[in-house]
Amino acid sequence: MKKTIIKGTGRYVPPRIVKNDDLSQWMDTSDEWIRQRTGIEQRHWIPENGGIGSSDLGLEAARIALKRAEWSPEDIDLIIFGTLSPDIYFPGSGCILQHKLGLKTTPALDIRQQCTGFIYGLTTADAFIQSGHANRILLVGAEVHSTALDISTRGRHVSVIFGDGAGAACLEGVETEESVGVLASVLHAQGELSNALMMELPSHKMSPFLSKEMLKESRHYPVMDGRLVFKIAVKRLSHVTKEVLQKANLSLDDVDLFIPHQANLRINEAFANLMNVSPEKVFNNIQRYGNTTAASIPIALDEALEKNRIGKGSTVVFLALGAGLTWGAVIYRFAE
Ligand SMILES: CC(C)(COP(=O)(O)OP(=O)(O)OC[C@H]1O[C@@H](n2cnc3c(N)ncnc32)[C@H](O)[C@@H]1OP(=O)(O)O)[C@@H](O)C(=O)NCCC(=O)NCCS
Repeated sequence: MKKTIIKGTGRYVPPRIVKNDDLSQWMDTSDEWIRQRTGIEQRHWIPENGGIGSSDLGLEAARIALKRAEWSPEDIDLIIFGTLSPDIYFPGSGCILQHKLGLKTTPALDIRQQCTGFIYGLTTADAFIQSGHANRILLVGAEVHSTALDISTRGRHVSVIFGDGAGAACLEGVETEESVGVLASVLHAQGELSNALMMELPSHKMSPFLSKEMLKESRHYPVMDGRLVFKIAVKRLSHVTKEVLQKANLSLDDVDLFIPHQANLRINEAFANLMNVSPEKVFNNIQRYGNTTAASIPIALDEALEKNRIGKGSTVVFLALGAGLTWGAVIYRFAE
């Protein structure tokens, strides 16, 4: 039977570090508030004058993943690119990355599932591999948030959270009878709560689809009902983890490491508490990166491998909730 196997991972963040205290030059905030509420100590942002897109960060992460997988770009059958912050409005960053990789006609697909981008992307990659549509897939999650945040005091409850960065994974279909690779996945969405976390503009239902007045009203910045999303996240992440374990016929004790989306350290602590799993079994790096949305899980996966928190034979649960609302989980087991 064909199994979807991770052959290589990579991550890249821009070198500019923005510490919590640095944010005080633009807004009324404090290191203490941000650490207490979110666990974040710093984030990486692209240079203030811009010029770097999600595809550029994704390219750096992809190059590392390709090298570790011992693939050349020509080996890729399909690119899946998860981002809510594409280089340009359209076409998608997957197409732009394809060109930057020097490829001519390799198909490219953008996934707009925000913080759940890697979970939807991994599930989509697995489905493409299982159906025989592709066998070697480059999955990238990359975001440039910093250019589209309201960094005045008005937007502080949203903008202090987000960081720029990229993670990538090379996925391959391998024939094996072993219980390895993607073992199970569960996806959900609830459009009823789309207003809880969204960026409204530019909007094609408006005419004109962008105006000076709209910009003056700051409708081009993300808005979030943080308290609501927090409460829902803790509940749904716990629920979807149970669902995916049941689907794979595994128990909590079978899991070596949970790699959750990095939205808020307090959400991940509450998840561990509710699930009654030891905090050491939940991987966190939001302290150094902030919330990098579709990039957060592949960055965390790459770091967890590098730090030997996981390796041969490890069973991992990836889980996320974000705008949409969308949420989901994937169980993955590394081969011995
Ligand atoms: C964003 C989040 C950290 C905000 O924390 P919160 O406790 O809900 O904070 P609130 O927005 O209710 O604000 C509480 C107070 O702090 C203030 N505040 C908000 N942001 C602040 C900041 N950056 N610095 C200082 N004070 C701030 C508010 O003005 C408010 O003050 P008041 O009580 O005097 O009115 C939290 O809600 C969260 O993480 N939510 C989930 C986010 C998430 O998972 N998103 C999905 C993936 S992106």
